[in-house]
Formats: sequence, structure tokens, C-alpha cells
Amino acid sequence: MDDLKSKYLGAIAEAGDQDALETLRLAAVGKKGEVSLKMRELGKMTPEERQVAGPALNALKDEINAALSAKKAALDDAALDERLRSEWLDVTLPGRARPRGTLHPVSQVSEEVSTIFADMGFAVAEGPRIESDWYNFDALNMPGHHPARAEMDTFYMKQPEGSEDRPPVLRTHTSPVQIRSMQAHGAPLRVICPGGVYRSDYDQTHTPMFHQVEGLAIDKDISMANLKWVLEEFVSAFFEVDHVELRFRASHFPFTEPSAEVDIRCSWEGGQLKVGEGDDWLEILGSGMVHPKVLQAGGIDPDQWQGFAFGVGIDRIAMLKYGIPDLRAFFESDLRWLRHYGFVPLDVPTLAGGLSR
Ligand code: DAH
Repeated sequence: MDDLKSKYLGAIAEAGDQDALETLRLAAVGKKGEVSLKMRELGKMTPEERQVAGPALNALKDEINAALSAKKAALDDAALDERLRSEWLDVTLPGRARPRGTLHPVSQVSEEVSTIFADMGFAVAEGPRIESDWYNFDALNMPGHHPARAEMDTFYMKQPEGSEDRPPVLRTHTSPVQIRSMQAHGAPLRVICPGGVYRSDYDQTHTPMFHQVEGLAIDKDISMANLKWVLEEFVSAFFEVDHVELRFRASHFPFTEPSAEVDIRCSWEGGQLKVGEGDDWLEILGSGMVHPKVLQAGGIDPDQWQGFAFGVGIDRIAMLKYGIPDLRAFFESDLRWLRHYGFVPLDVPTLAGGLSR
């Protein structure tokens, strides 16, 4: 019995896992185990022998069972410890970034433009995309049969029933927001107005819907010099270069007098646009001194106040800055294009931290 005891207690102590332990249990105290077989022999003994052997065998059986369950508990504990060690997770670590959508270049550039002009004291104003004929044309010094109306490839809305007015239009430019801002806030005034505009036109650089940003500054003693400085500041901040040379070309817009189109110095070496150097010029915006009739339409006295205005194509400067060759792709919602040209959301442009990264 002593042999059995030391054999099994030793083996149980050595057992490496639950399977080994179960094998030992069956071999010792299972139905055909060594201790069980010994117990069966009790029947053949004399009563005196049995009185000694019986309790001793029972004690042995109890001892082995106790060792088995102690070992089982120890193995369970060790397995749990191992799991806790290998499945450990530091929940205080920062979450893994899972970027999903991206910011469209039009949104990004609108943010960049707004940031630059906010720094110069301009507020952001918006107006409706379905606009009355008066705001889109008349108020901007383009009355009834003005030839400039025909140049704008206007989308006309349905004439409201019973109305004598000319039908509303999809605004062809952001200039009507000039009038709305003047009416809402009076002078002095400094606003930019970004937003979507519409013209019936479609090729590599034209889409029926595109985006502009209008600028308007009204004050006493405002001149072309102020316009020039503001545009120079804007262009070099936007293209993120120290200095950009601008060329003002005399032009004509009904809503400004005098009017100028503005070109920036650039080079196209190797098909790659570089702003601020080279011998080429690239037209980027229209501008001028606000026409007295436009001030009047906005309810501002042109004898007391002057102003400058300008209009820039947002999609166009986005294409130039970020090297995007085809405007039509802007509005195709192709996920591959959006991932390639899109911007990280929440990476808000700032003048101090950088407009684009
Ligand atoms: N509204 C003009 C267009 O869409 C752009 C423009 C030119 C706006 C001159 C202005 C400006 O404010 O002064 O073609």
C-alpha cells in the first residue's frame, strides 16, 4: 500500500495537464484502478485482516482523491494565469485611428480660403442657390436684355404659376450674395461668400455645377490698392509661397468699374505647375471696384462708400494647387478618386499650423 501511495502521489504531483491527471485517476481509483482492485480483495480476507486493511485502503483512496482535486485546482489556476497573461490588454492606450471618409478638395479649399480671409477680418456669408432673376442679374447692373446675361448659360427654373416676374434661376455666380450681404448688414462690410453655382457647360474644365468664392469689402476711401494688397496676401497664403507676382489686366464686368482680371506668375516646366516663378501667366479671378449702381441696389450710398469685389473659382484653384487634371471627376463620387485626392477630416487648416499637410 505504501508503494501504491508513493507511486500515485508522486505521479499526481508531476502531472503536466488535465489529461495526464485523468489518466492517473482512472489508473488509481477508476473502476479498474489499482486501488479499486485492492478493495475488491477485501472480500477474500479474514475479518481480522479486513479490519486493518479496510480503513487503510479507504484512507489511501481518500488521500489520492484529495491529491487529484488539489492538483486539478492548481492546474486550473495555472491555466487561468496563463490566459490572463497572454490575453492582457491595456485599455488606457489611445484608440487606433480608423479613418473612414475624406474631405472633398472643394470642402478643403473652401476651408483654406475662409481661414485666410477670416485672418483679414472677412466674415463668411451664404445665399440661396435658387436665386431670383433680380439678385442674380438686375441688382448686379445686368438689366433685362444685357448681353452679359446671354454669356452665362443660365439654367432657368419654372415660372411660378400666375407670376409676372421673370422665372428664378440657378445662380450663375456668387455675386448675388454681395447684394444680400449689403442689404443685411449695410456698410462698412467685409465678407466672403463661398458656394455652389450653375451654368450649362460641360468639358474637362467646366461642369454644370461648380463653386466660387465672392469677396466684398466696403468702407470709406477703399481703392484698387487695397484690392491689390488683399489679393496678393490671399494668393501667396493660399499657394503657400512667400510672394506671388500678380498681373492686373483691364477687363469688363457689369458690376465693377473699373474691372480687372488677375493673373498669377507661374511656370509649367515639365507639365508641372509652379506658382510664383517662371514666364507664364495664369488667370485666376475677376475683380474690380464695386459699381455705384450695385451699391445702390444693396441699399448703400455710393457717394459715401466705395468697395472692391472679386470672384474666384474654387474648383479651379483646387485643381491648380493640388494638381487635379479633370474637373468632371470632382462630381463623380468615385471612391478611389475621393481617397486619393481627399483630405483627412478634422485636420483643420490654420494659418499657424499650415493650410494643407
Ligand atoms: N461673377 C463673376 C463671374 O462669375 C466673377 C466676378 C468678377 C466676381 C468680378 C466679382 C468681380 O465680384 O468683381 O464670372
